[in-house]
Amino acid sequence: MTIVEACESHTNTTPEFPMGWFSVSRSQELAIGEVKAVKAFDRELVLYRTRSGKPAVQDAYCPHLGAHLGHEGRVIGETIRCPFHGWQFNADDGKCSHIPYCEEIPDRARLRTWHTEEKNGEVYIWFHPENTAPQWELPDLPELGDPNWTTPRYTDHLVPAHVQDICENSCDPVHFAFVHKQGTIPESEVTIDPDGRTMHLHSNMETNDFPSQLHAITYSPGFAMVRNTYGPGAEMIMYNSPQPIDKHNTYMRWTLIVRKEIEDLAGDDVMQGIIDGLSDDYPIWANKVHKRRPVFCREDKPLVTFRKWVRQFYVTSQDKKEIA
Ligand code: FES
Ligand SMILES: [Fe+2]
Repeated sequence: MTIVEACESHTNTTPEFPMGWFSVSRSQELAIGEVKAVKAFDRELVLYRTRSGKPAVQDAYCPHLGAHLGHEGRVIGETIRCPFHGWQFNADDGKCSHIPYCEEIPDRARLRTWHTEEKNGEVYIWFHPENTAPQWELPDLPELGDPNWTTPRYTDHLVPAHVQDICENSCDPVHFAFVHKQGTIPESEVTIDPDGRTMHLHSNMETNDFPSQLHAITYSPGFAMVRNTYGPGAEMIMYNSPQPIDKHNTYMRWTLIVRKEIEDLAGDDVMQGIIDGLSDDYPIWANKVHKRRPVFCREDKPLVTFRKWVRQFYVTSQDKKEIA
């Protein structure tokens, strides 16, 4: 007898969170002394900026009686103070440094602290399920702040999809034609750098209203950059720093800069294009499942490459085995 399997649901096929750098805030949205509650990787976190200007991300619940430090917690110098009984925790190692009514500090009075770095206008944390040290550095974007390029434009969106599925979207030239109504399927090639980690998609978008060469660079599931070249001096860069909220929801932070030569022509239109593009994807994301073992056809090479590539970011053997 063959038992017919129940159909997949949102909950039983989704992988854990991949390791890597993930944004938890834009730099400009975190002032000195500011404290915020952040939800990421299905965890409650507290994000704050110390008096010296350093961002910190720690587990949100106080080891004493469990108050949430992101709600009414306060920055005191290089520490955060719990709103419930005033215990203070260091930003750099999470150790309790002060209890206002007791001389002796228990050893276990410590907050888990996530490795945090600020770059390219965002605050990133290194996520690894075992909270290990970062295994690679965040890339630099030298065009940010370059006088030949515009100041950044931003757009943020909460989307109902696992972070891996969002990343996979940029490696899926066939859906450009169907979901984004771009006429034909662009000729595309996917390559991976010798280090095995950085993936490139080159697509020839010559049938678009504004013909271009597209080059998408995915450094990890938490950082993807797209460079569109329309001609000499006519270039645009957009990058997405997604924050996985939980396994089914991701907060996307898009940043866009263009060469000053085409600012009037392209800036606002391209930004609107990103926003429209997301609304094209939205109904698919809102209703799809994450497919652990997709059935691919011979022409699905970019997707097959993507699935092999993405395995390296997973830690548990279950996920490694079943991701592709
Ligand atoms: S719960 Fe944080 S100090 Fe008591
Ligand atoms: Fe898309």
